Amino acid sequence: MLRVKSDATAGIVATKGQMEKGKVLLSLLIVLSIIGILVLVYMIGDAYYIQAPTAIKAPLSNNKFKILEASYPITPIRDSEHFMVSAFIDHRLNGFIRVISIINRNCLQPLYCVYCNAEKVCKTVHTKVQIHSDHFGFPYGASDVICTGKPMTDATHVLITVKNDSADLKMEYLPIKNKAVQETFKFNFTVCISNLFGDYNNVLQFAQTMEMYKLLGVQHVVIYNTSSGPDLEKLLKHYEMEGILEIVPWPIDQFLNPSSGWNIKLHKGDIQYYGQLVTLNECIYRHMYQSKYVLLNDIDEIIMPYKHATLQSLMEDLQSAHPSIGVFLIENHIFPKTQFEESGKFKRAEWNNIPGVNIMEHIYREPSRKNIYNPTKMIVNPRKVQQTSVHSPLKHFRGSVLVPFNVCRIVHVRVPLQGSLTKEQLVVDKRVWDFEQELIHNIDHTLKLSGFLKASV
Ligand SMILES: *[C@@H]1O[C@H](CO)[C@@H](O)[C@H](O)[C@H]1NC(C)=O
Ligand SMILES: *[C@@H]1O[C@H](CO)[C@@H](O)[C@H](O)[C@H]1NC(C)=O
Ligand SMILES: *[C@@H]1O[C@H](CO)[C@@H](O)[C@H](O)[C@H]1NC(C)=O
Repeated sequence: MLRVKSDATAGIVATKGQMEKGKVLLSLLIVLSIIGILVLVYMIGDAYYIQAPTAIKAPLSNNKFKILEASYPITPIRDSEHFMVSAFIDHRLNGFIRVISIINRNCLQPLYCVYCNAEKVCKTVHTKVQIHSDHFGFPYGASDVICTGKPMTDATHVLITVKNDSADLKMEYLPIKNKAVQETFKFNFTVCISNLFGDYNNVLQFAQTMEMYKLLGVQHVVIYNTSSGPDLEKLLKHYEMEGILEIVPWPIDQFLNPSSGWNIKLHKGDIQYYGQLVTLNECIYRHMYQSKYVLLNDIDEIIMPYKHATLQSLMEDLQSAHPSIGVFLIENHIFPKTQFEESGKFKRAEWNNIPGVNIMEHIYREPSRKNIYNPTKMIVNPRKVQQTSVHSPLKHFRGSVLVPFNVCRIVHVRVPLQGSLTKEQLVVDKRVWDFEQELIHNIDHTLKLSGFLKASV
């Protein structure tokens, strides 16, 4: 154990009954001076930490000392090519600390964890680095750095370092999350949207997707934001203010050259798709004790129950048929945005000037093809997942099931995949229309509140 800063305890000056008045006063003065000096030392100590250039986050409130907290969700590991993202206790696996990280696979080296408690007592331990198997050949990959050995039970902060003896309190630490197991959750359904980047400005489809999800019973949506278009920015701010949307800053482009795809041959870069695998895993751990279920899908996808009115009743049925299962795979189905519904009844004048795709006009679905697998997205119980990829988990407890297509599937309005198919060769699928009345009312309400429609419309 390395004791970095010890608690100062002032001795008690005992005076015996027969002491002279002068001596009593003198002792009092000495005691007061000692207290004064101690207070000064504390203040200078505080001033030092406040002035440190990287101290950005607010200090721990119930703590006289301050440990520097990382100010971004992506923190370079000093003297290395790697990055740490966030730290969680894994209660399912002996309570060790898992630091979700981005590791350069070409520069592997021993790494160490330093964890500290609120008294700044710190301990350095060895790590096991687990690079997720889905890195698609990019040099940087989503990884777990596992701090080995029994952690201090009261550890509050951790960092990863390349030195085995460095409890350096001037370095940036990650707060340790998921401290306690919870049995009840703030949310039943959370949607994790892994990445928002470029100048994506698809306002109408995003508003429609959010309002659809609200009707299905989603209470919380999380987006990892690298950048977005100007109009979508305005809508995001609205949903953030409303309280349903949490925006996690994800400035990956400030640290790496992110690829805009998963195929390194087509889209060069340091890391697959803006670090999508890192954010998906982060999102699962972030909501482990906050949300009963987590939906992992892209910004233009809706995981849609076809036999149930809500996700709640869908999951009650699925879970009672498969009590121990924590991973439900949902097939993706494409609704080409190039094929429009004939009557034009949802081509509403109110939405004419809203940028983006109107999903209610696109009710033609591409048919499944023989021997071609429809990729899946997931509804998971985050407490049963250890590592995830995009279409299925990499490591999980108790197995997974593929949910039948007629029970639940993804409505994915986008450019066609089977582009040569005519309207007659596509399948009519009007599931979104079942919600039309409430959906349109709620979309318009949101567009008014966020300033896209005049309040009088
Ligand atoms: C720390 O590293 C040094 C060399 O870098 C090595 O000599 C020493 O044994 C290591 N100590 C521990 C506890 O691993
Ligand atoms: C979550 O679902 C339970 C029923 O399983 C319900 O009692 C509770 O109110 C729901 N929580 C929220 C936040 O909607
Ligand atoms: C998303 O990130 C960009 C780049 O940092 C930032 O300019 C923008 O304000 C962020 N959007 C929201 C809604 O937080």
